[in-house]
Amino acid sequence: MRNLTYFIACSIDGFIGDPEGDASAMVSLVDAEFFDFLKTEYPETLPTAGRRPLGIDDLPNKRFDTIVQGRRSYDLALKEGITSPYAHMRQYVASRTLGESPDPDVEIISDDLVGRVRALKAEDSAYGIYLCGGAELAGALVDEIDELVIKTYPIVQGSGMPMFAAGFSVTPFTLESHRAFGNGTLVRTYRRQR
Ligand SMILES: NC(=O)c1ccc[n+]([C@@H]2O[C@H](COP(=O)([O-])OP(=O)(O)OC[C@H]3O[C@@H](n4cnc5c(N)ncnc54)[C@H](OP(=O)(O)O)[C@@H]3O)[C@@H](O)[C@H]2O)c1
Repeated sequence: MRNLTYFIACSIDGFIGDPEGDASAMVSLVDAEFFDFLKTEYPETLPTAGRRPLGIDDLPNKRFDTIVQGRRSYDLALKEGITSPYAHMRQYVASRTLGESPDPDVEIISDDLVGRVRALKAEDSAYGIYLCGGAELAGALVDEIDELVIKTYPIVQGSGMPMFAAGFSVTPFTLESHRAFGNGTLVRTYRRQR
């Protein structure tokens, strides 16, 4: 089985965006050192449109070859006129309303989300699956998550979109690694205890 990894940016108080989900307060804190970390360790998590102008669109994938995102997260790309935001991976968007995919490279998962993700996890691949978010999709897939990579930016928001939109349930994870950056960002990697 390969891993489903929730790779997510959040505030110190655990929010992944403002109350509507807008994460630009965190994106603006990415400095040269942290961008270099993302480029080196998680190049595939940078969207295609951001890679091209930087001349890094040919960076090989390092950890993931598949991305799953919720329709409202995908909407952010659609609003920019981008139908294939992560062209360097196999792309899945969970949606019961989108119907036909706007792009041949993006597959819509409209039913049996957990079953479809389990099937993806059962595929033979050296690469894992990037669970991009947002909160609702992460809540629907919380029991399938094997690994958490949490990029905690040095801000407190007071309120906002939580990491998971899910019911109360305590799930233990083990801290595998952590790394602090000069700008105060902390990246922690946790593995689900099985
Ligand atoms: N901080 C970060 O790193 C980060 C990363 C990603 C996203 N975000 C933020 O997250 C926000 C979006 O989060 P969100 O919670 O509002 O929405 P979301 O999780 O991105 O998408 C929710 C949508 O996914 C579909 N969905 C959810 N569960 C499903 C299921 N079981 N089967 C089929 N489809 C399902 C539904 O689409 P339909 O309504 O079409 O049925 C639902 O409306 C964005 O504003 C974005 O900025 C932040």
